[in-house]
This record gives sequence, structure tokens and C-alpha cells, in this order.
Amino acid sequence: MSFELDPTFAQDPAKHFDTLQIHAGLTPDPTTGAAALPIYATAAWQFDDAEDAAQKFALARPGNVYSRLTNTTTDCIAARVAAIEGAASAVAVASGHAAEILAFTNIAKAGDEIVASDSLYGGTWNILLHTLDDLGIKTTFVPNNDIDAFVAASNERTKFWYVETIGNPLVDVADVPALVDAAASLNLPVIVDNTFATPYLYRPADDGAAVIIESLTKWIGGHGATIGGAVIDSGKFDWAAVPGKFPTLTEPDASYHGAVWTQAAPAAPFATRVLAQRLRDIGPTLSPYAAQLIGLGIETLSLRVQRHSDNALAVAKFLKDHPKVGWVRYSGLEDDPSHEVASRLLKNGFGGALVFGVKGGREAGLRVINNVKLHTLLANVGDAKSLIIHPATTTHSQLTPEQLGAAHLSEDLIRLSVGIENVDDIIADLDQALAAV
Ligand SMILES: Cc1ncc(COP(=O)(O)O)c(C=O)c1O
Repeated sequence: MSFELDPTFAQDPAKHFDTLQIHAGLTPDPTTGAAALPIYATAAWQFDDAEDAAQKFALARPGNVYSRLTNTTTDCIAARVAAIEGAASAVAVASGHAAEILAFTNIAKAGDEIVASDSLYGGTWNILLHTLDDLGIKTTFVPNNDIDAFVAASNERTKFWYVETIGNPLVDVADVPALVDAAASLNLPVIVDNTFATPYLYRPADDGAAVIIESLTKWIGGHGATIGGAVIDSGKFDWAAVPGKFPTLTEPDASYHGAVWTQAAPAAPFATRVLAQRLRDIGPTLSPYAAQLIGLGIETLSLRVQRHSDNALAVAKFLKDHPKVGWVRYSGLEDDPSHEVASRLLKNGFGGALVFGVKGGREAGLRVINNVKLHTLLANVGDAKSLIIHPATTTHSQLTPEQLGAAHLSEDLIRLSVGIENVDDIIADLDQALAAV
């Protein structure tokens, strides 16, 4: 099937991350010899004959059919993301949110439940609290890393546990291996949103996470030029271990010739169903134009995330020593509550995002935001540029004051996505903005 990972790069231990991020999934165009990833701007793909059409529709023969499902440009990105995550397969989709919805509804139906960490992106809170609730799927939020609370909140209707490797915006680090171990004792999969870490810092698949979500919009794309997302199947979870627990994957799929996905695609049943069934029906497809831009970004992922992380550590240290700053959270700081977990899990650095509060609270913080000159005030992270925002009035503003409290979002919290500019210029900009307080 065309959405399976290019076997040349699948889990190839001889290929390093920096090599995979450039080459995985890319085969030079056989007709033209184009070496860079071409944009295949086509809605549908011509069949050789009627037999070829029938075989491809039945998934009995590999090949593109219709670009809502597969497209050679987007498939390259999916294969590359799977390779750098050390996973079995991936599906590239229109946004990080699309990836979440497709993944959640791939195994959870009305009447089912989810247990989620309380340290999550505001948009994800919305999906879980409202959109999934509308569909009859209930989420219990528990304190990040409180394994006893995760276990206590789970019951026979629970389908998975959900965490962000590095929470947005608190930047606290989830102890994924400990969560995976505890969930395994209940035969539950852990789904991890790895957007803030990226696979350059951490690969949840290596620690047994079942499914990984990436917003490709952030550091993976890296340029703030387009939106995208990915559902990544680690291939490590046995969906058939408890009969009847995951019927969408283990029982005949009436919407696809009665396919049983754990048998039809044993290496990556979760991703295969997301693509063949959920993406087919719901339709948030990644455009090949966006996919090509994301592919250009991935080529330099390791270089950028290294620089983001080095710059963020320097900025965190600067803010921590600044007399007008009340508090800083960055797991790279030795006294940060997440430092122990982060040092154990993250490789190469601690990520490009940090949060802090200015003495004088919310008003003083907004003054800093209004006085930066190099930093851009916008609702995104992972851009090459340094970005600043006040989450309580923007990215997390749909949460009620109680929910903001539950998400540990204080009124004074400012989020920085530290860019890859010269770090002296980034610090000088923050210094002059703090002087205005
Ligand atoms: C951690 C995290 N996950 C998912 C998303 C959603 O991604 P997208 O904006 O690409 O839909 C975001 C967006 O900010 C995010 O921060």
C-alpha cells in the first residue's frame, strides 16, 4: 500500500536522524528525475485499466487513487515523520487538531472514556471537553504525571491515556515511560502529543507509546508558513491483546469490505485505519502544497531545534536572574520541577518554549508584551522567529477561570517560543521590554 513506510528507511539503525530528516520517504521522480520533492497537484490518479482500478480500491495493489487519501507529496512527509519518530507508519493530515480528532475517534466511540493530563494545549482541552463530549466521549483530566490518578480515573470504558511530552504552555515534562508502564498493566495505550519536544529531543515510540501526535505547524515545519499534522503509529501496541477492547481495529470494518485492520495491516493497524477509514470519511487532508513546505522544513529540523534549545536555555537563565521577573519555568533550569524527568528523557536540549511571570502580575506582563520589538506577538510556536504571547487571554482564552486554574495557567504567565536569531539580540529585546515595566 502506498502509505506504508518506505522500507529503505523504516527503523534503519544505520541511518542517523540528520540523514533521515533529509532523505526518508523521498524517491526521485521516475519520469522527470526531479530531485527535490515535487508538488503533485492532482486530485485523482489515473488507473492503468479497470482491473488496476478495482485492485487499488480494494487496497490489494499499492498506488494512489484519490488525493483525499493518498498523494505522493504528502506520503513522502508521512514516511519521513514516521522514520524520524522511529515508528512503523504515519498519516500526514491538515493540522495538528485534525490529527488529534482522527486519532481519538479511531478507537473511542460514544460511551467510551479518555484519561488526559491537565497540562495540555487549550485547543486540545476544547476538543476533549466539548467536541468529544458532543460525540458522547468523556474525558477525565488528572494531574500530569500523577500515575495513581491516571489509574484511579481508568475503568473498563477507558480507551487511552493522553499526555503532551512537553505541556503547552506550562512546559512541564510527562514521564512517558512511567505512564506507558502503568497503562500497560491495564492493557491501555498511551497517546503522546510530541509537538513541543519533536523527535529530535524525544521519541515516545522508543518508550512504547502507542500513538504519537505532531502538529507539523510548529518546529517540524519550522517556518510558520503553513499548517499540518501527523498521526504516527509506533507499531508497538498489541490492539488485539484483550478481545473486544478495540473493536474498530480488531473486528470486521463494515465500511471497508469487512477488513480487520490488525490482520490487514499488522505492522501499523492504527495508522492504516486512520488513513483508509477516518481520513476517507472525515476528510482533513494535507494539501500537497503545504506538504512540500513542511518537507523543506524537516530537512533542517535537528539544526533548528538544537539552536532553539540552546537559545531558550540562555534566555531562561537570563530571565531567572532578572530582578523584575518573578518566576520562570524551563525544564533545562536545574531547580525546575521537571528537570529530573527532562534530563532522563530529552536528548540534545530542553526545547524552544518557556514561560515566565513578571513581578507586578498580569498588567506588568502585558507591558512587556507591548514593548518587545524583535519578538513577534502571535499565537504560534516553533517558528524560526522569536514569538511571545499571553495564553490566558489568547490560546487558552476559551477556558473558564476554573479550567484555567485546573490547567495551572496563572494570569501573569507569558509564553516565549525562542527563535533561532542571535541569542544576544533576543535577550537584549527582552531586557529593554522589561525596562519599560
Ligand atoms: C501541543 C499542541 N498540539 C496540537 C496543536 C494543534 O496543532 P494545529 O494548530 O496544527 O492544529 C497545537 C497548536 O498550538 C499545540 O500547541
